[in-house]
This record gives sequence, C-alpha cells and structure tokens, in this order.
Amino acid sequence: MTYTKMLNSPEETENFAICLAKLLKSGDLLTLEGDLGAGKTTFTKGLAKGLGIQRMVNSPTFTLLKQYSGRLELNHFDVYRLENSDEDIGFEEFFTSDAVTVVEWARFIEEYLPKERLEITINRQSDQERKMSLTPIGRRYENLCRELNL
Ligand SMILES: Nc1ncnc2c1ncn2[C@@H]1O[C@H](COP(=O)(O)OP(=O)(O)OP(=O)(O)O)[C@@H](O)[C@H]1O
Ligand SMILES: [Mg+2]
Repeated sequence: MTYTKMLNSPEETENFAICLAKLLKSGDLLTLEGDLGAGKTTFTKGLAKGLGIQRMVNSPTFTLLKQYSGRLELNHFDVYRLENSDEDIGFEEFFTSDAVTVVEWARFIEEYLPKERLEITINRQSDQERKMSLTPIGRRYENLCRELNL
C-alpha cells in the first residue's frame, strides 16, 4: 500500500512533517528518497520542529550524521556521499537505539537498513509542487500511516 499526498509549498512539506513527528515513537525509522532539491531536508526540518527540537537542521555535505534532542532523540543521516561505497559506519547501533532515525538517500545504505520502516519519496512536479509517496513496511508503520488519515 502506498499513500500519496501533494505538497504545494515548502511550508506544506514542513507542516506535514510536524504532524507526522507528533505520532513518532522511540525507534522509528523513516527513509527519504528524491532528487537533489526535492525537499528531503525541508521535510526533516519539519520533523525536528515537531519533535520540539530548537536547533537549526541542515545537511552539510561532509556530515553523515547529526543528532538532536527533543521529545525524542533524532538521528539525521544524509548518506549521499556514500553512493558507490560499501562503507559501514556501524549503522546498526543507530537503528536499534531509542531515537527516531531519518535517512536522506537511504538507497545508498540499503544493505544496512532494517526492513521495517516508513519509506517516503518526494518527487518534484514544478517549482513549488511536490508529490510525496509514503510506503509503510511492517505493522508499526501501517498503523502510523492510518493515524495520518491520508
Ligand atoms: N513543496 C515543497 N516542498 C519542499 N521544498 C520545496 C517545495 N517547494 C519548493 N521547495 C524548495 O526546494 C528546496 C528543497 O531543498 P532541500 O534541501 O529540502 O532538498 P533535499 O531533497 O534535501 O536536497 P539534497 O538532495 O541536496 O539534500 C528548498 O529550497 C525549498 O524551499
Ligand atoms: Mg538534503
């Protein structure tokens, strides 16, 4: 089952992520796919806000992981630079931790990811429009999507 939703501005993307964040639980994993500039980091900013994180969220090119504290801990990975690399930086410990984890360009570390997760893909339709697809894998994420009333 895949749910889709149109996001007509950066604010809508952030606001959707804020709503989603309020439903997240310790240990949840979200993967983000979408071309350069699709809105993955914009989405993550919303998640952070929704978790009550005050610090600025961004994705500096050479930082694979940033960790934040709010209602829950947030691990924000951007693994873009691991394309064509099979480097394992010890991902497993992050996926078994109590934090919420979000991974931009998750396909580059596919082999290290737990199977159960919420897969989010953002496709650019025009300057401001994005089409978001959400595919829950596993019971936890199916329930989460149901709670979103998409
Ligand atoms: N509906 C929208 N949702 C999200 N971002 C949008 C939307 N419309 C326009 N934008 C703009 O698109 C850009 C998205 O940039 P962002 O850094 O979030 O993308 P990204 O997917 O993280 O890119 P990268 O792959 O380089 O990390 C921002 O400048 C944002 O303002
Ligand atoms: Mg980004």
